[in-house]
Amino acid sequence: MSWHTVSLLFLNGPDCVEGSFSSVCAAILTVTGALCCITELCGGEQRHRIKRMIHWAQRIEKELEKVLQHVTGTEQMKSIYNEKKSQFEIKRNNPKDLVDRVARDISKLLNSKRKALEKLAREAEQLQKEHVWQDGVTENDISYYDSKADSDYMEDGEEEIPTEISSSLELEFVPDPNFKNKVNYSSSAVQIPTDIYKGSPVILNELNWTQALERVFIENRREDSSLRWQVFGSATGVTRYYPATPWRAPNKIDLYDVRRRPWYIQGASSPKDMVIIVDVSGSVSGLTLKLMKTSVVEMLDTLSDDDYVNVARFNEKADAVVPCFKTLVQANVRNKKIFKEAVMHMQAKGTTDYKS
Ligand SMILES: *[C@@H]1O[C@H](CO)[C@@H](O)[C@H](O)[C@H]1NC(C)=O
Ligand SMILES: *[C@@H]1O[C@H](CO)[C@@H](O)[C@H](O)[C@H]1NC(C)=O
Repeated sequence: MSWHTVSLLFLNGPDCVEGSFSSVCAAILTVTGALCCITELCGGEQRHRIKRMIHWAQRIEKELEKVLQHVTGTEQMKSIYNEKKSQFEIKRNNPKDLVDRVARDISKLLNSKRKALEKLAREAEQLQKEHVWQDGVTENDISYYDSKADSDYMEDGEEEIPTEISSSLELEFVPDPNFKNKVNYSSSAVQIPTDIYKGSPVILNELNWTQALERVFIENRREDSSLRWQVFGSATGVTRYYPATPWRAPNKIDLYDVRRRPWYIQGASSPKDMVIIVDVSGSVSGLTLKLMKTSVVEMLDTLSDDDYVNVARFNEKADAVVPCFKTLVQANVRNKKIFKEAVMHMQAKGTTDYKS
């Protein structure tokens, strides 16, 4: 097969193809592995079992072949090619040109996103500086679209309570294929974490000055229509995003807080190394230990991919909570999960010896 088929295949979705290949390989390995074990056992009465095993293996083989045919679509591709041969021409691709072109396109794409982002950051800084703090501001002075205004966050079976008279703007939304959502391009939307009081002066001031970002969002989109969500996250917890769309967690308690999102953490803090040491000696009683565990988990949540971390516990002696993490490890989602599980399973015993 030539280059053409190869690039066609990948256009069809390399993820899907690769994924099925690897699962197919894994299955083949399992089958051959099982066969090896069986040959070693080879006793008289085992023979018919082996036969059955071979039968299974052959069936699996046929199944795999079918799956491969199906996911790679080689047959369809062949028949399409044969049917419409006249419309195809064979050309030789220059791999280097291909790669260069793709690289150019990607860098163009990223550059326009970067420009939009830089503009947004610049304007936000400027607007923030110009904003004059208003002490006596009330909810009636501020108009914004509260993205959670339309969703009712109720426990099952609870009566619908006419919620506080919402000061939220009423918007009309139209479905948009770009966002796979219904959106309103004339407005931005605001999300405020569930545990923050919307009517506090801090929040109201924040809402007041960030309103002006709407203009920047709209200008950015006019310049690059391929831009997707534009989001501004504030240190007070206010998220303002564009285009406006209702918040997406209906019927569930909304735990979103922009300040815990990886992109926010990475932007707001510099990379750090952290070692967390937990006292798990007998003197730490049940509740204290529970609080400590929760604190460690919370601390881990403030770290992200740029940070390195380890957690150690000590009583008579000190050791790593996760035995195979002997040095600082990257605070990525996977490692943090491993730490959290290990931390939750820690038990207090022995006595503290601060010397070790
Ligand atoms: C911000 O506050 C000023 C002064 O109270 C007010 O005139 C203006 O309309 C407010 N802007 C928004 C978007 O709420
Ligand atoms: C957004 O909502 C407002 C208020 O309902 C409406 O007047 C406007 O046409 C909507 N804009 C878009 C682009 O849908």
